[in-house]
Amino acid sequence: MKFFVDTADVNEIRDLAETGLVDGVTTNPSLVAKSDRDFSEVVREICGIVDGPVSAEVTATQAAAMVEEARKLTRIAGNVAIKVPLTWEGLKACRALTQEGTMVNVTLCFSANQALLAAKAGATFISPFVGRLDDIGEDGMDLIRDIRTIYDNYDALNTQILTASIRSDEHVKQAALAGSDVATVPPAVLRGLSEHPLTDKGLKAFLADWEKTGQTIL
Ligand code: E4P
Repeated sequence: MKFFVDTADVNEIRDLAETGLVDGVTTNPSLVAKSDRDFSEVVREICGIVDGPVSAEVTATQAAAMVEEARKLTRIAGNVAIKVPLTWEGLKACRALTQEGTMVNVTLCFSANQALLAAKAGATFISPFVGRLDDIGEDGMDLIRDIRTIYDNYDALNTQILTASIRSDEHVKQAALAGSDVATVPPAVLRGLSEHPLTDKGLKAFLADWEKTGQTIL
């Protein structure tokens, strides 16, 4: 499973990218607003740090205007993926943009039927929001499993499942178990994946025993 980082914070992205674990980045208008920076500049900077797809979301609501915005955003760098909302207009824009060779991430997906439409519209990525489904009392991961089954049923559907709205390490594990192609993860959750109390305890004990030997490696 690929890891994308779900943030518009350039410093966080730079730091995490040093591990080599970052396969891409997703942003959305709320994350850009939080960064309090110029959208195009932020996208340009992120694309200079990460080689993989960097999602930048359009804010128009009509297909023709979405396509115009997308063309401006894709001129920023070759690895920009355009995010369009899962609306009828967004699906039309998705089809037009994929025909131009642009990577498209169809976002705000909350049902398997929506994911089916996005794949038929040629989406590169579909972004089902698991955390927001959990918020309303559903099991967001059921949606990932359903989409996986549907896409695997048809060779013609090549859209990658990009599990989004991830809130916990359990979400990451469940996404991987469900066969999600990508998980987009907030920086704090990504860092937390490396942690386990027994790792800390074990390391402490190893270092204490090593100290007793009086040796050094270098
Ligand atoms: C993904 O592309 C979205 O930007 C993001 O995962 C939404 O997460 P949230 O529901 O925690 O805002």
